[in-house]
Amino acid sequence: QRTSALASIKCFLFGCGTPAVKPDTNRIVNGEDARPHSWPWQISLQVKHGSRYHHTCGGTLVGPRWVLTAGHCIWPGDVYRVVLGEHDMSVQEGTEQIRDILRIIVHPAWDIEHVANGNDLALLKLDKSPILNDSVGVACLPAAGEILAHETPCFITGWGNLYSNVTDSSAFRTWQALKPCTIAAHDVCSSSGWWGTTVKSTMVCAGGDVVSGCNGDSGGPLNCLGQDGRWYLQGVTSFVSSLVCNELKKPTVFTRTSAFTEWLSEVN
Ligand SMILES: *[C@@H]1O[C@H](CO)[C@@H](O)[C@H](O)[C@H]1NC(C)=O
Ligand SMILES: *[C@@H]1O[C@H](CO)[C@@H](O)[C@H](O)[C@H]1NC(C)=O
Repeated sequence: QRTSALASIKCFLFGCGTPAVKPDTNRIVNGEDARPHSWPWQISLQVKHGSRYHHTCGGTLVGPRWVLTAGHCIWPGDVYRVVLGEHDMSVQEGTEQIRDILRIIVHPAWDIEHVANGNDLALLKLDKSPILNDSVGVACLPAAGEILAHETPCFITGWGNLYSNVTDSSAFRTWQALKPCTIAAHDVCSSSGWWGTTVKSTMVCAGGDVVSGCNGDSGGPLNCLGQDGRWYLQGVTSFVSSLVCNELKKPTVFTRTSAFTEWLSEVN
């Protein structure tokens, strides 16, 4: 008998969003190296090329065996694995746990030809549960329909090009970074001059101001601290402006996880 993704996630909520290593979010302005293992739900989704695997997207551990990433990270026929407990990809730190993927469930309404329709989500079921410890943990999922207020401070994490001053994509870091990303309310983000009608109500925007608004890892988490002191996965990185990395009024657009609670409860 199968348990739905959300049910297995719910059984687990007692331990979500509370990293053993506390993130340092005070001093960062423009994007900094993350304190190692302070975002223990962040995973690296890796695709197989030949005999080797390469980082291709971020993702988030949301249940003992479930990872949430973006639909656009998955290409039919490709082989993927998930690395948890990772900080610096260039060295074996002893904290990494590698898992194969048993099943990939891309949201049925995701369509790469129509990115602006949204639904850019995929659930990955791991072949077996990782060992949850100080370097691997689960993020909380928000309540259905939760909407964050304009200018709520959040953070994106990942191995992508998070520094807004780096425009050369070859300047790739191997260690995890974080970057502040302030929520832009839907009415602001969907106004003309911002993203307009490209942004749907099932999306959430963050950035678009001077300091924030850069691409993190596709599929990676938008982490926001809840009033209960736990970290919530409020968004999954979907798309950015193709013009420049740090364009004003063109914040990063995320799939809003609180809009997909029903789908998560149906997948099993
Ligand atoms: C977490 O568990 C993995 C797998 O057993 C282990 O390699 C790693 O050292 C552990 N990390 C910590 C911080 O306890
Ligand atoms: C980019 O910003 C980071 C973080 O503020 C800084 O450490 C780095 O030196 C900057 N790089 C360049 C090329 O200016």
